[in-house]
Amino acid sequence: MLVSLFYVSRAVGPQTTTVTSSILSTARLNNPVHGITGALFQGQGLYLQVLEGERSAVNRLYAQILADKRHTDAEILSMEELAGRRFEKWSMAHVILSDLDPMVLMKHPEFDPYSASAKGAGLMLEDFIASGVRVDKPVV
Ligand SMILES: Cc1cc2nc3c(=O)[nH]c(=O)nc-3n(C[C@H](O)[C@H](O)[C@H](O)COP(=O)(O)O)c2cc1C
Repeated sequence: MLVSLFYVSRAVGPQTTTVTSSILSTARLNNPVHGITGALFQGQGLYLQVLEGERSAVNRLYAQILADKRHTDAEILSMEELAGRRFEKWSMAHVILSDLDPMVLMKHPEFDPYSASAKGAGLMLEDFIASGVRVDKPVV
């Protein structure tokens, strides 16, 4: 069963390129082995990550990510069954939130995923994706 898990967390310390590169290189090494694809959005001290894959693989990875000291306060925003992957070309796409279309960001001025409903968070994600996610090259 293919699922998508979407969560938010707060970065511990500044979200420097060094931290991000290290997270992404681990993800890009490990995720293909476990059939995981997804996207990592970051900015304003937050991480928003989508993990797609078989339910058990997604749960295992999420448990591992939860234990990571580089972030805290992780909260699942939604978990749903998927008919098809939305990030099938990416072992882990990377999006810096401030790089998104300003119009899209203006649509979500409050930008507080912690108080968003699952539906609200889902709509925000759809908008981010539709705005032409400017991600790194596909690496799967
Ligand atoms: C916000 C965030 C997102 C992460 N995403 C992934 C991921 O998609 N895949 C992954 O393997 N590790 C990810 N990690 C790293 C894991 O927490 C953990 O360090 C890693 O899986 C350990 O892998 P290793 O045992 O091969 O070093 C992430 C960490 C953070 C803080």
